[in-house]
Amino acid sequence: MSLLIAKNINKKFFLHDKTIDVLEDISLSVNVEESIAIMGKSGSGKSSLLHILGGLDKPCKGEVIFKKNSIYNQNKKYLSNYRNNQIGFIFQSYHLLPDLTVYENIILPSSILNNRNAKSTVSELIDIMDLGCRINHKPHELSGGEKQRVAIARSLVNSPALILADEPTGNLDEDTSKHVLNYLFQAIHNFSKSIILVTHSKYVANYCNKKYDLINGILV
Ligand SMILES: Nc1ncnc2c1ncn2[C@@H]1O[C@H](COP(=O)(O)OP(=O)(O)OP(=O)(O)O)[C@@H](O)[C@H]1O
Ligand SMILES: [Mg+2]
Repeated sequence: MSLLIAKNINKKFFLHDKTIDVLEDISLSVNVEESIAIMGKSGSGKSSLLHILGGLDKPCKGEVIFKKNSIYNQNKKYLSNYRNNQIGFIFQSYHLLPDLTVYENIILPSSILNNRNAKSTVSELIDIMDLGCRINHKPHELSGGEKQRVAIARSLVNSPALILADEPTGNLDEDTSKHVLNYLFQAIHNFSKSIILVTHSKYVANYCNKKYDLINGILV
């Protein structure tokens, strides 16, 4: 069953009288429990595509259909619920809130939803991501890899249907990277989740069922 379908996505940016053509014509379908890797050169548009699929940036043309709803044709409430409840976004640059501790950053999406199981889920995620001795630290007191693990834990706290991961292990050493990927993929199999993962690493891409290259604005 298709969870998300992207149809003929086109994206340009307009900057200082110049048009930057990023995505030409992207179509993609993600089934429940499916994992998709997207590779491609730096600047090819991978992050832009994830932002569009995650309800964060409207495409110039085309549609993103989640469970039969065309997300950019719905109202603001639908879109914010979609972003918070259905999607777990792991940002390339983490996007942690600087004034909140590790614990507060991880639990934040669940407080918006009033998720009663949040505390036990957060404890479990803190254990898995090996952040137990950092829970009271602020983001500026963390290493890049620690921030990345906080961002991964936060993306999973509301048990989203679809995880959008932008180079989720780009800052981790090989052992930690394997540990985190094993956990992510176990969660996908055990709880029938789906993932779209952007990576520069063939090793990481091999965790996925399907692999695409983003070249000149299209998926190959
Ligand atoms: N808000 C913006 N305004 C103008 N141009 C942008 C904007 N966001 C991205 N771009 C441009 O779009 C292109 C694609 O950027 P994007 O971040 O999607 O690439 P990427 O494939 O994720 O690269 P990387 O592997 O380096 O993360 C780049 O040339 C970038 O400069
Ligand atoms: Mg990127």
